[in-house]
Amino acid sequence: MSPETLQQDQAAELRRLVAQRAKQAPRAMTASSARVIAVTSGKGGVGKTNLAVNLAVAAAAYGKRVALVDLDLGLANADVVLGASPKATIAHVLSGRVNILQALTPTHGVMLLAGASGIESYANLTAPERERLRDAFGRLAERADLVILDTGAGISRNVIEFAAAADEALVVTTPEPTALVDAYATVKLLAREPDAGAIRLIVNQAADRAEADRVSAGLISVARRFLQADVDRLGYVLRDPAVGRAVMARAPFVVAEGRGAAAECVRNLAARLIGGVPRRRGFVQRVFQILRLGA
Ligand SMILES: Nc1ncnc2c1ncn2[C@@H]1O[C@H](COP(=O)(O)OP(=O)(O)OP(=O)(O)O)[C@@H](O)[C@H]1O
Ligand SMILES: [Mg+2]
Repeated sequence: MSPETLQQDQAAELRRLVAQRAKQAPRAMTASSARVIAVTSGKGGVGKTNLAVNLAVAAAAYGKRVALVDLDLGLANADVVLGASPKATIAHVLSGRVNILQALTPTHGVMLLAGASGIESYANLTAPERERLRDAFGRLAERADLVILDTGAGISRNVIEFAAAADEALVVTTPEPTALVDAYATVKLLAREPDAGAIRLIVNQAADRAEADRVSAGLISVARRFLQADVDRLGYVLRDPAVGRAVMARAPFVVAEGRGAAAECVRNLAARLIGGVPRRRGFVQRVFQILRLGA
């Protein structure tokens, strides 16, 4: 079999798996400890939510138990991109009205904890709310293989602390200079955090592989030179009109547009993520510290 045929076969098999998994209920969550991955960016609108959602769905299609938590305080919309209708959100969990396991919405093989607008800041939570959030993360981390956080954009403490507490922060940028400058600012803040996890770069909306490589190489070398920070190149996603079509159809593009270039790129990223770096221990302890509960 030629390498091209093999590749086509593998791609077809993955598409089949994603389609099949999308029809199934999510895998039952049983005890284990998850790898926590934060999807973040400096500039808004670079594609974090679409990447978080589609990476989650692709990882679930590879057989991982995946929880997706929408931590975006301003514009929580992972549920919209997934086409889900959550009955509960993180706000219900914080208020104690619903427990974390009841609050999860199963969708496309993923357990979604939907976000809520109206929470001003995680730093301003009351003591009982902090306890509940910490408990929720603890329970999720026991029951999933991967917990993916959509942190929202920006360099606020909320975003940076959660991104640094994760095992890996995936910093998303587009090739635009404005997005790159903001991605650099994010890397700078992450690199300053004591005990931050790995920083990995995704170039989204690249015109082609060469552009993505140029952009990654530039940011990685500047971060090394001026910040003494190690940024790992996770990969790239091509600009693809299928992404916008899938958003309009309220379905993840790896499902609705599984043959498209963006879906192919995300499947590759998911495979790399799953095969990737060993996780650190202690996300829950680090959340303790974010929530000022003391370890
Ligand atoms: N690879 C891509 N190709 C084409 N369009 C894309 C791609 N990735 C994202 N988009 C488009 O970019 C827009 C923003 O995407 P998304 O909402 O995922 O960004 P975000 O970083 O989560 O934004 P926010 O900062 O507001 O949370 C969407 O309209 C989406 O369709
Ligand atoms: Mg978003």
